[in-house]
Amino acid sequence: MEIRKVGVVGLGTMGAGIAQVSVQAGFETVGRELNEELAERARATIERYLSRGVEKGRMTSEERDAALDRLTLTTELEALADCDLVIEAALEELDLKRDIFSQLDRITRPEAVLATNTSALSVSEIADATERQERVVGMHFFNPAPVLPLVEIVRARKSSDEAVDAACAWAERAGKQPVRCNDTPGFIVNRILIPLLNDCVRVLDEAGVEPEQMDKAMTNGAGWPLGPCALIDLIGIDIHVHASEALHDKLGEPRMAPPDRLVNMQSEGSLGRKSGRGFYDYSG
Ligand SMILES: NC(=O)c1ccc[n+]([C@@H]2O[C@H](COP(=O)([O-])OP(=O)(O)OC[C@H]3O[C@@H](n4cnc5c(N)ncnc54)[C@H](O)[C@@H]3O)[C@@H](O)[C@H]2O)c1
Repeated sequence: MEIRKVGVVGLGTMGAGIAQVSVQAGFETVGRELNEELAERARATIERYLSRGVEKGRMTSEERDAALDRLTLTTELEALADCDLVIEAALEELDLKRDIFSQLDRITRPEAVLATNTSALSVSEIADATERQERVVGMHFFNPAPVLPLVEIVRARKSSDEAVDAACAWAERAGKQPVRCNDTPGFIVNRILIPLLNDCVRVLDEAGVEPEQMDKAMTNGAGWPLGPCALIDLIGIDIHVHASEALHDKLGEPRMAPPDRLVNMQSEGSLGRKSGRGFYDYSG
């Protein structure tokens, strides 16, 4: 099955990035937001990033304009009726995602592939809200979606080979590096990275190490491109704490629970880069 038209539900941090990937790769794309103000904000974000690409010589202004022309914004889910692939990137709440999938199931053509960008929920439980579990997969992008190549293509309990293949093929045509996996908590990268980053934070206190020194140790000793404290600041302390809690709830390993230091930073509003302060100060 060839995917020609793509729908994206929710144009927040991830959805706007996924819609950008899609239009840049040449696909007609319909983005759905809750209201026009949010939709226009997403369009402005996409336009800003594409314009930065023009400034840096990665694309011409004609290519940027053509990409933006491929983007249609809507507040109605019904406008996604003729999409071949719909990628949902709404809030990380099971009931909300199940409701969206049950509506998409009614609205879209039976052969359309429905994908969720969930980080920590069960793709199979989301698929169960539809009458076409075989056409539902996970497509887990990484933030920022236009920059990071990996997409985990998640095979849910009843996903068909054809739906998984179609999602993989689309990701490749969009310039991504898809990797297939089963529907297990944290999929691949988060299952490994979340407890590992939590270990790094615990070592700060256990071994009396400052964040700068921890980052120096892991970049120079383990070859990490970015130190763990700088990485958590980039991810966002709140996002990381939430992902840790979700993984800990499902798998129960103590290392997966968010370290107290991160929970305290979150309650103080030190959320990393986005708040101007995390392990490092970004206010200057
Ligand atoms: N931020 C990340 O680093 C990251 C990485 C990979 C996957 N994800 C996953 O992507 C999804 C979106 O995360 P995000 O960081 O883009 O969140 P976000 O808060 O930036 O965006 C959430 C989106 O959900 C929409 N939304 C809110 N309430 C809604 C409702 N009642 N009905 C429909 N849509 C509604 C918002 O309008 C917005 O577009 C989540 O499932 C998250 O787990 C996030």
